[in-house]
Amino acid sequence: MESAIRPQTLISQLQSLIDAYEGSESEGTFYSPEAIRERVPLQIEDEPTPQDELMEILKAIVIRTPKTANRLFFNQLFGGKEDLAVVADMMVARMNNSMYTYKVAGPHVLIEHELLRKACDVIGFTDGEGTFCPGGSLGNLVAMVVARNTSVAGVRDHGVAGNTFTAYTSAEGHYSIRKNAGILGIGRENVREIAVNDRGEMQADDFGKQVEQDLAAGFIPFFVNLTAGTTVLGAFDDVTQVGAIAKKHGIWVHVDGSYGASVLMSKKRAALLPGIELADSVSWNPHKMMGVPLTCSMLLSKKKGLLIDNFSEVSDYLFQDDADELNPGMKSLQCGRRNDAFKLWALWKQLGNKGFEQRLEKQFLLRDEIVSMIKSDPAFELIIEPASLNVCFQYRGVASDRICSALDKKGFGKVGHGTFNRQHFIRMVIVNADLVPKDLEDFLSGIKVIAMGLQGEGK
Ligand SMILES: Cc1ncc(COP(=O)(O)O)c(C=O)c1O
Repeated sequence: MESAIRPQTLISQLQSLIDAYEGSESEGTFYSPEAIRERVPLQIEDEPTPQDELMEILKAIVIRTPKTANRLFFNQLFGGKEDLAVVADMMVARMNNSMYTYKVAGPHVLIEHELLRKACDVIGFTDGEGTFCPGGSLGNLVAMVVARNTSVAGVRDHGVAGNTFTAYTSAEGHYSIRKNAGILGIGRENVREIAVNDRGEMQADDFGKQVEQDLAAGFIPFFVNLTAGTTVLGAFDDVTQVGAIAKKHGIWVHVDGSYGASVLMSKKRAALLPGIELADSVSWNPHKMMGVPLTCSMLLSKKKGLLIDNFSEVSDYLFQDDADELNPGMKSLQCGRRNDAFKLWALWKQLGNKGFEQRLEKQFLLRDEIVSMIKSDPAFELIIEPASLNVCFQYRGVASDRICSALDKKGFGKVGHGTFNRQHFIRMVIVNADLVPKDLEDFLSGIKVIAMGLQGEGK
């Protein structure tokens, strides 16, 4: 058996993998599952694999991995990369601490404190708290747990028996709300999907009427999810209006800002989220708009103490030293927990608030560029004026799903499609702050070539 890898070997191996990856990064190439299976020996054998051969296999994998930071990737609500955050995240794997106790994580607990305090500040939670979660879906779950347990005493200990809760989200809200209701014993069918207006924002009146109806029918309305940056359109629900109705009925107001809470980093763009400080909780994923590697996600709560009340367990084997405050495992969803704070902290420290503000402004300017390119070309149609960084448009006369699929299969780039008001369209997400307008122009030209080809084929 080979001995443990020495640090110098580790760095040179990492470097050679990065070189292989970055050498392949500039262009998009599509690899089918069959082609990958044929070219890369993925099966695990009884015998060990010699180190040199293993390195070649690792390279074969990384070069075939979809590139989410190149100039052809517009498919998801994340994209691009910030080098310092990547380096910090690599270091996290090397340090391998678990974030449940100060004893095991040391300064990283204090780093988490600083980030959560800072995030509460940005939101306007003057006496708030928070926890890092493995993504926005689970941040939303944490919020729903606290809301449910707060709405009826004893649920945490005795279960939901006899109580039929109802939760509210918009028809454009993320599917995690329904999924979480299935997990929490609330029931997916007890999530009311409230209609949206023509900008994709929840209709406050419809929400109010649905709550009245549910109360009259004996349900317990406990939670409303308002989305800051909906997944498809990037729309922002009206926290002030819906929040006021919710408060009247004692309903927990959650803002799913997994995508869009990052706009708060800019004084100008924070105008998209008036009333955010009225929320009881906010999910916020810096791994989407802020260029931090996956995953980096926070759940912030307005009132201090609720997370410990709802997530702490007695565990003598684990929490042996230090005050609860220094043992974040007392208020987290998980036990063993990856350090998702260091990369965000390193980047925030590097850029400061001002750097993030400028980065966001650049994203919005790129968004404006592509919108004007689309508007000035009669072959394209802009479906809706974008509220944030999602640009929804179509190439007239060719189905958007076919265009997206053909782009991917030709290795030209990755972009997704969506539907709103029965219209089907391409959704381009402009989160990669390293792009320049020419990249967007080239991508639109590529779409055009592909679409004209499909048109020629009569599709
Ligand atoms: C609005 C919104 N909320 C929640 C999520 C889920 O976040 P995550 O993928 O981190 O679980 C997404 C994902 O795109 C989203 O768009």
